[in-house]
Amino acid sequence: MSNSILLAPGPVQLHPEVQRILSLPMIHHRTPEFDAILKSALTGLKMIFQTNQPVFMFSATGSGGMECLLINVLDPQDKVLSIIHGKFGERWADMAEAFGAQVIRHQVPWGQAVKLEELKNLLAAHPDIKIVLAQACETSTATINPIQAMAELISKTEALFLVDGITALGAYDLPMDQWKLDGVVGGSQKAFMLPTGMTFLSFSEKAWKKIKTAKAPKFYFDIQNELAANLRGETLFSSNVPIVRALDFVLKRIGEHGLTNHFKHIARRADYIRHMAENLGLKLFSQAPSNSVTALILPSTIDGVKFRTQLESNYQTTVMGGQDSLKGKIIRIGHMGYITDEDLHETSLRLARTLNDFDYKVDLKELEKTSKKFLESKG
Ligand SMILES: Cc1ncc(COP(=O)(O)O)c(C=O)c1O
Repeated sequence: MSNSILLAPGPVQLHPEVQRILSLPMIHHRTPEFDAILKSALTGLKMIFQTNQPVFMFSATGSGGMECLLINVLDPQDKVLSIIHGKFGERWADMAEAFGAQVIRHQVPWGQAVKLEELKNLLAAHPDIKIVLAQACETSTATINPIQAMAELISKTEALFLVDGITALGAYDLPMDQWKLDGVVGGSQKAFMLPTGMTFLSFSEKAWKKIKTAKAPKFYFDIQNELAANLRGETLFSSNVPIVRALDFVLKRIGEHGLTNHFKHIARRADYIRHMAENLGLKLFSQAPSNSVTALILPSTIDGVKFRTQLESNYQTTVMGGQDSLKGKIIRIGHMGYITDEDLHETSLRLARTLNDFDYKVDLKELEKTSKKFLESKG
């Protein structure tokens, strides 16, 4: 078997140049050399967020970024509407409760997007909602929400709309200013094509008004202190030098290719996996599938946990399984990161071989032809 392949919805495969940059000798973060890199990366992030507002970075995973967005605009006891259609929606609701919010949990069946009519009714029934939380892409089910249309409804109220873009931002269009999103958060190990460990976020003008008075407790994530530090040309606490250096490279590379082209590459990978799944006879789990990650339903005769183990140990290919009620039933294939056509082709073949190992017969020769045809025609 040739190379190992990592097609999880984060962490993702790294570009060879990112790997090289990560291994450079350490420099101190309070130096003119690093100041220039930080400035360049903070400016480059605005292109991904599509915002004129300042963008921030913290050494924390995406969940830290979710916390930072939330607590900087939260008063304890605020009414918070949390849209939940998977694991990460649950997490944000739990977090809001931990900080004293009164949380309305709007449960949406896993695999579905929120219905706009239901959101409209909830906003009308609770005019005192101060914050709405939702995932742009719920990674546990590979399902997107209609963020632009949701923002249209929420922006007419006094509520702030905070968006978890951890598996969306940088993978497909999520223009913060144009869509009137009040807070967006991303994670380094996703479409930013970096190792895990950093989160990026930004607030709207409407959110900044609330930040000035919001009373939820905060220290490390106090955004007003971080802004003051950024305006002095530094981060408040020690900077994550290796990841920021690599981030600067990734942002410049995306800038050179153009954001739209970058999104097209990721969309093509998603199209490819959906096309191959159809040829393998595997159905999509999501009714609103994302371009950043695809969830496929495994045949009921196959134990998904054993399937993943076989794929990993015999074919050196890592994809993710399902969580909670979906454990053992689905696999999730990521489309973010540094992925070549060869990786895509090999992944299809390895999935097919693993299916064959579980007596689910796939014609490998046919599949190989179908894969090549897609990749050659849509290169
Ligand atoms: C949509 C979404 N939100 C939040 C998180 C949590 O991010 P982290 O694991 O970086 O804290 C993830 C991680 O996969 C995610 O996909």
